Amino acid sequence: MSVLRPVILAASGSSRLQRAVTGFPVSAAVVRRFVAGETRAELEPVVRELLADGRMVSVDFLGENTTDHRIAEETVAEYLDLIDLLADVWRAVSAAPADARWVRPAEVSVKLSALGQALGPDGPGIAVENLRTICRRAAERGVWVTVDAEDHTTTTATLGTVHLLRSEFPWLAVAIQAYLYRSAEDCAAAAASGARIRLCKGAYREPAAVAHHRTADVDAAYRDCLATLMRGSGYPMVATHDPAMIERTALLARECDRARGDLEYQMLFGVRPDEQRRLVAQGRAVRVYVPYGRQWYGYLTRRLAERPANLMFFGRALLSR
Ligand code: FDA
Repeated sequence: MSVLRPVILAASGSSRLQRAVTGFPVSAAVVRRFVAGETRAELEPVVRELLADGRMVSVDFLGENTTDHRIAEETVAEYLDLIDLLADVWRAVSAAPADARWVRPAEVSVKLSALGQALGPDGPGIAVENLRTICRRAAERGVWVTVDAEDHTTTTATLGTVHLLRSEFPWLAVAIQAYLYRSAEDCAAAAASGARIRLCKGAYREPAAVAHHRTADVDAAYRDCLATLMRGSGYPMVATHDPAMIERTALLARECDRARGDLEYQMLFGVRPDEQRRLVAQGRAVRVYVPYGRQWYGYLTRRLAERPANLMFFGRALLSR
């Protein structure tokens, strides 16, 4: 892993740095590479273009670690409007893929910490109710929901919340981070339950007591989790830009007789767009994770930590203004 990764991930938690960077006038140009816009109006053409191009979307309204009830309520309201927008855009775009029995091209991604999970002792219950409200609207409008994975202190609560609500909304999905030691077991349970699971490597700064740190170990854990999910009865969503993992997925798909509609590839907006299009041209199902909103700082610093080339892009943009 990059020597810069721990430094940048530490910066992702700094509110002082956040205030300084988000106030800097260059931010918009840099952020636009990874973030679709600050508002739904800016998001809409991005989503329309992706769907028309044959890619599916999972849209994240940026925000996390809410410690204010009012902000959690505003976040829910934004998600309800977002779901309506996605349903309308999807119906207006006839070229988007409509192949599988139950695959939904439009999805929202949501962080439970943005819905109030961290609001004291009542937080987890508040997050469950807020997520239920979002899922109800999603069910009405034919949109899917995936719950993002945050830092390891939230994993048990997040998986528990999704497990609870899956009895009402069987399509509700959750992300699992391969770098966590516990994820081998979590994937085995998910694979047996037939759940929809997004498998990612993991993007947070975690202690060695709970997570692999070495690249080779994280990759090996990802391969193991991937095999478990692909051989299970659920719907794997393979969230990675790593060519080795993409190739491994194709091999496992053949081995497990999984066709289009039985799994999907996922990548982040602004990352490897040519590879996204190549996979679509090969007839594979691809979903792009599209973030929007003003709270982009934590998201962007995690992207910078993943790839020093992203950091150089950021630095160049700062210097060129
Ligand atoms: P990784 O960073 O390990 O790189 C491996 C190889 O991939 C590189 O050597 C290079 O060959 C190629 N590559 C990677 N990035 C590239 C680039 N920009 N350009 C060219 N080549 C590149 N995390 C989390 O903790 N919780 C979550 O809920 C989610 N959700 C999520 C959704 C989706 C759709 C994705 C794609 C990712 C997430 N993540 C996440 C982030 C994830 O955990 C991880 O941090 C990043 O995806 C980076 O890991 P990769 O597997 O992509 O490749």
